[in-house]
Amino acid sequence: MRAHEAGALHADINTRGPWWLQPPRDVNVLETPLWSSTARKNEHGALEVGGVDLRDLVAEHGSPAYVLDEADLRARARAFGNAFSGYGVYYAGKAFLCTTVARWIAEEGLNLDVCSAGELTVALRAGFDPERIGYHGNNKTTDELRRAVDAGVGRIIVDSFDEIDRLMAVVSRRSQARSSTTEVGVMLRVTAGVEAHTHEYIATAHEDQKFGFSITSGDAIAAVRRIQDAPGLRPLGLHSHIGSQIFDTSGFEVAARRVLALHAAVRQDLGVELPELGLGGGFGIAYTTQDDPADPKRLAAEITEIVEHECRGRGIAVPALSIEPGRAIVGPSMCTVYEVGTVKPVALDADAARTYVSVDGGMSDNIRTALYDADYSCTLASRHSDVPPVLARIVGKHCEAGDIVVKDEFVPGDIEPGDLLAVPGTGAYCRSMSSNYNHALRPPVIAVAHGSAHVVVRRETEDDLLRTDVGAGRS
Ligand code: LLP
Repeated sequence: MRAHEAGALHADINTRGPWWLQPPRDVNVLETPLWSSTARKNEHGALEVGGVDLRDLVAEHGSPAYVLDEADLRARARAFGNAFSGYGVYYAGKAFLCTTVARWIAEEGLNLDVCSAGELTVALRAGFDPERIGYHGNNKTTDELRRAVDAGVGRIIVDSFDEIDRLMAVVSRRSQARSSTTEVGVMLRVTAGVEAHTHEYIATAHEDQKFGFSITSGDAIAAVRRIQDAPGLRPLGLHSHIGSQIFDTSGFEVAARRVLALHAAVRQDLGVELPELGLGGGFGIAYTTQDDPADPKRLAAEITEIVEHECRGRGIAVPALSIEPGRAIVGPSMCTVYEVGTVKPVALDADAARTYVSVDGGMSDNIRTALYDADYSCTLASRHSDVPPVLARIVGKHCEAGDIVVKDEFVPGDIEPGDLLAVPGTGAYCRSMSSNYNHALRPPVIAVAHGSAHVVVRRETEDDLLRTDVGAGRS
């Protein structure tokens, strides 16, 4: 494409914000459905979470910081456990994991889904019962599989024929070394061929992507046969995860129908009654007022009905079901607090203007806006304002024009350097996908409850940055 002189606008950027974003009647008021349950504005207009004024939190711990509402996270974990009682509920640690959260998850009675050796290490270090861990991933190495088997992980969700071969080799070597049979529970990730209505990069059940065994190609049933014949591998069931940030159970319905058809075919053709069925995670949360997530009770009722109806129709017993919510448990439980550094009004076309508010973090602590075009919102967290709101874009401090935290939000017109801004809904996939881009130091995760704050993941230091730089010791 040839370069051209830029107008005030970039052609495909919406300059006045999305249609649904209207100036709020009172910019000081929290949109409560977007915030964790203990978040509130106090008499100074400052945001409090877990009874902690974020001005005090920042004074003590600096900014940016992820603020984790312990009561909220525990309540969400419990709500899923209760609503889906009878299911295996696995918290998907990829959304956010540290040893403290792994312990809370165990205390709330949930199991854990990990998808890498690193996540497994965190879980084991937290003392998480390995029997209650499911291990995912589309390319687990022999070494990772060996670690998982040695640790006694309860189930490994296999994703390819190569991986089945590697797992068989690991199990057989271990059995030989110990002169006794090692047995590993195995689930089989299948591709249900569903177009989930979510961002392309986080939809996972259509055919043209890397995960799972295709049902339509016959790979899935061939893989069940391979596992069935493999000494030491105990087939537990089929597993399907259709994608993430999904609001509508119709995707689960199509997937359940296809996966249960395979489940029934396995029974009929191979004579194997698979005892379980994994339905994955992906339940959406509210990032803006436009998102309307279902509560766990409704999800449980709808999903159970879908599966039972399908099983009835096929005359098969309902297998033991499991789900893997990540985002829906941790997402709303955290917000990120930033300090405003630069405020720059930018004239757009005609009479339009946009205020660029630069904060002291950005795409290194929240890549989701740049990566998925994700929507977020924010609020002034350090004071009250009576000045009418202006349309703002909250941007970070990285060397990229795409370093956007919140694409569009109304903030008080007197927003200024030194103000604190807080972004809700940053618990899932923000810290876990954070980076050291531009050698930024990753922010801490600070848990708040009953009026006190404690650091569960500390802020990185420049020593952390230099630790792996072999030349750093030389002067
Ligand atoms: N189970 C499996 C097999 C998964 O692959 C995932 C997410 C989950 C469960 C949990 O999904 P959740 O309930 O958290 O939606 N980085 C993206 C999301 C990628 C999800 C990957 N797999 C994002 O920031 O939206």
